[in-house]
Amino acid sequence: MLTFALVALVIITVSAGLIHLIRTKPIQRVRGPPSPSFLLGHEHALSTQNEVGDLEFEWLRTYGPTWRIRGEFGIHVLMTADPKALQHIYHKSAYNYTKRTSANIMAEIMTGPGIAVSLGRDHQRHRKIMNPAFSAAHLRTFLPLFQRIGTKMVEQWKTDLSGAERMSMVVNKWLSRATMDIIGEAAFDYQYGALDKGAGSPIIKAYDNLFSDINKPSAMVALFRATWDYIPIPILRLFRFVPAEPFTRLRNLRGLFTEYGKQILREQRAEIDVEKVSKSKDVMSILIKANSSADPQTRLSDAEIMAEMFTLTLAGHETTASTLTFLTYELAKHPEYQARLRKEIQDRRALVMSRGDASFSMEDLDSLTLTMNAIKETLRFHPIVSYLPRVATKDDVIPLAYPIVSTTGETITEIPVHAGQVIFPSFMAYQRIKDIWGEDADVWNPDRWLRPETGKQTKVGVFANLMTFSAGVQACIGWKFSIIEMQALLAEIIENFELSLSSEKHTIRRAPAGFGMVPMIEGREDLGTALPLQVSLVQQ
Ligand code: HEM
Ligand SMILES: *[C@@H]1O[C@H](CO)[C@@H](O)[C@H](O)[C@H]1NC(C)=O
Ligand SMILES: *[C@@H]1O[C@H](CO)[C@@H](O)[C@H](O)[C@H]1NC(C)=O
Repeated sequence: MLTFALVALVIITVSAGLIHLIRTKPIQRVRGPPSPSFLLGHEHALSTQNEVGDLEFEWLRTYGPTWRIRGEFGIHVLMTADPKALQHIYHKSAYNYTKRTSANIMAEIMTGPGIAVSLGRDHQRHRKIMNPAFSAAHLRTFLPLFQRIGTKMVEQWKTDLSGAERMSMVVNKWLSRATMDIIGEAAFDYQYGALDKGAGSPIIKAYDNLFSDINKPSAMVALFRATWDYIPIPILRLFRFVPAEPFTRLRNLRGLFTEYGKQILREQRAEIDVEKVSKSKDVMSILIKANSSADPQTRLSDAEIMAEMFTLTLAGHETTASTLTFLTYELAKHPEYQARLRKEIQDRRALVMSRGDASFSMEDLDSLTLTMNAIKETLRFHPIVSYLPRVATKDDVIPLAYPIVSTTGETITEIPVHAGQVIFPSFMAYQRIKDIWGEDADVWNPDRWLRPETGKQTKVGVFANLMTFSAGVQACIGWKFSIIEMQALLAEIIENFELSLSSEKHTIRRAPAGFGMVPMIEGREDLGTALPLQVSLVQQ
């Protein structure tokens, strides 16, 4: 039986592969690097490179912003950093470029049927119910929460310093706890208690290092996952019952979430009937309200709403924490910029105090230009999601802003693709194009944002024309949430502490994790995600 299943699997995969080769004919004129391995292609190389971006930057230099690589089982994959191509794929074509099954199913096994894994009309339904909770007006109401958690974290650092001049600490762990507590309260009024050492919820424990652990597949596992693109989806869904890692771990985590989710739904629904609900501001109560007033056809099921909770935690916590971590690292590497930033924050503080206010308002934070530029620059330089596969659902022609030279020496200004074509749009490479970001695109320099021409080319992303939050109908719904969160936390940290590089002279790697990256210490990967810095109290 097993042999039969295996043989069937091989036959399906091989024939699908052959069909694929024919379907990818049009893009075979695009130049690209020779494949390191027939079975693994460049895909495995991308997810095991030393620093995320090493390969993309080399390809960008060699071939221009659009090139062709090999995927697993030798398929031809179009990789592009071209702004017009990105705009076309994410923006103009709406759902005509969809998510790739092998990646999406893995995410679905993790989160359940939530917004991030739903496609087409289904996705529209999720997004419609979720949108009200992410309006600019509503997000401002979360500012006091961001500030409360920020203050709590800062107080704990002060306690840990306990009079010492400086201490070494693993910043990312702290930021990760702070963003976890924030997303719990903001998303569903739940106390993860991540900053309360040891007293955290069981979810916290099940969560530790999840991203870096499950996204580091061996070559065999990577190939096994690659076959998923050729297996019917209902069968794939059964994989979540496989009694092996990482499925066991994902199953446990999802089990915990479902347990809490049911409890929260019960509590929130009870509230729905009382007046109190009008005061609840967390995303979940807004969802439940939106759901109860929506047209019956656009409503979300209980399983879907529970999946949103899990999705928000997963999408909204480590992403923001890692971005902030890289930001603190850059500030430690650039003490002069850090000092300017601190001065900006302190000056504003003086104004706030003269007004008689206790904390920064949204307008105060928005007036901190150097702080905002540091955030933008870090999102550009360290995009936590470095590329996101898409698959064409229709035959189409992708336009290019930067023409490329074909394998036969002709100039190509647009690329025809067949339905089924796999594309890896590279956010990492897009954000290093010198024509768009300046000759110094390969250095972290927040002052580029003072130049009026920065990023002013083809309109792509949702924020600062960056792709870090993706773009179009399936762009990050939480981008503005994340920006306000970072503004608040950064002001809190920099006003109180001076950050400097660890005395142990660690080399920090942007280690690959799935389509993204996490900070790790070179040679100390056993520590999981880690970015140690020295922290000392700002002298008043
Ligand atoms: C720096 C921080 C963040 C980054 C870099 C980031 C990046 C992204 C990216 C690239 C996507 C597209 C994923 C895809 O197409 O597969 C996405 C989607 C999403 N993000 Fe974020 N995100 C961040 C913060 C947040 C926060 C704070 C939240 C929640 C409060 C959030 C919630 C979501 C959700 C729900 C989706 C799915 C949206 C949809 O499919 O319609 N993200 N994010
Ligand atoms: C998606 O593809 C269909 C069929 O090719 C086309 O008619 C439609 O305009 C496309 N949608 C968008 C938003 O481009
Ligand atoms: C949303 O509405 C549908 C239809 O009325 C209902 O079955 C479902 O339980 C609701 N979901 C939540 C989470 O309230």
